[in-house]
Amino acid sequence: MKKIYTIALAASLTFLIFSCGSKKEKTNVEDYGTPKEEVAVPSNSEAIAQGESLVKANDCKTCHHPTNKIIGPAHTDVAKKYEFTEANVKMLAEKIIKGGSGVWGQIPMTPHPDITEADAEKMARYVLSLDGEKEH
Ligand code: HEC
Repeated sequence: MKKIYTIALAASLTFLIFSCGSKKEKTNVEDYGTPKEEVAVPSNSEAIAQGESLVKANDCKTCHHPTNKIIGPAHTDVAKKYEFTEANVKMLAEKIIKGGSGVWGQIPMTPHPDITEADAEKMARYVLSLDGEKEH
């Protein structure tokens, strides 16, 4: 009889050790969920980086400087004025394409009808990122 108890005890101990082991493995698997959320960040910062190249490749720098007012407002001041939201990205992208005046003074911004909406949105994202704010 004693032998059976010993075997049973050993068996349950082995079971306990194994179940602890498998519990630990499970936590590790769950941990793999975290990087998934970060995937959205590179795609966003990629759009911002593309926006920066687009702004540099276009005529924007004739009138805009990242931190100084030239003819147009400093793009950092634009970033500070507006919250980094999808709605403001769309609003500024439209302004880049259609031009406009009256927000920063009477000097108008020339329209850019050749810039696509997608590119204008990337530029707007770049401008809005300049004060360090993340899109929300
Ligand atoms: C001819 C000069 C000129 C050029 C070129 C120009 N801008 Fe502007 N931009 C302005 C002026 C002036 C304003 C202020 C307009 C106003 O007061 O509404 C402005 C405003 C803006 C604003 C803020 C709009 C708002 O409603 O607050 C953004 C964003 C902007 N420009 C981005 C760009 C980008 C990107 C380019 C290049 C594709 C560009 N600008 C090219 C003159 C220019």
